[in-house]
Amino acid sequence: MPRIRFEPDGIEIEVKLGTTILQAAEQAGAQLGSACGGECACATCHVYVSEGLDGLSDMDECEEDNLDKAFDVRRNSRLACQARLQIERACVVTISQASRQTFLDEHPELRQR
Ligand code: FES
Repeated sequence: MPRIRFEPDGIEIEVKLGTTILQAAEQAGAQLGSACGGECACATCHVYVSEGLDGLSDMDECEEDNLDKAFDVRRNSRLACQARLQIERACVVTISQASRQTFLDEHPELRQR
């Protein structure tokens, strides 16, 4: 099973092939925002993939369009709800600050952690 680590917290989890980064974050308890619920209608699930970028599903037009709405987009940017883990290899992602903030806005009870 692919293994994914979420930075900056270092939370790791193994997930089934075909799992999205967002689904993996939810399973792992990582603080990754998802204002539209994973429908490719916002950019709040923006992450930076530092390892395993080539093991993810290709970016489609919807993801490209919505990624344009994100702040500080880089060559390794992906929308976590659209990027699926497709091969058995390690993946490391850093949750963008905006995504973390969205998560905390959605879960104010976790702000003090
Ligand atoms: S959660 Fe809205 S685009 Fe990913």
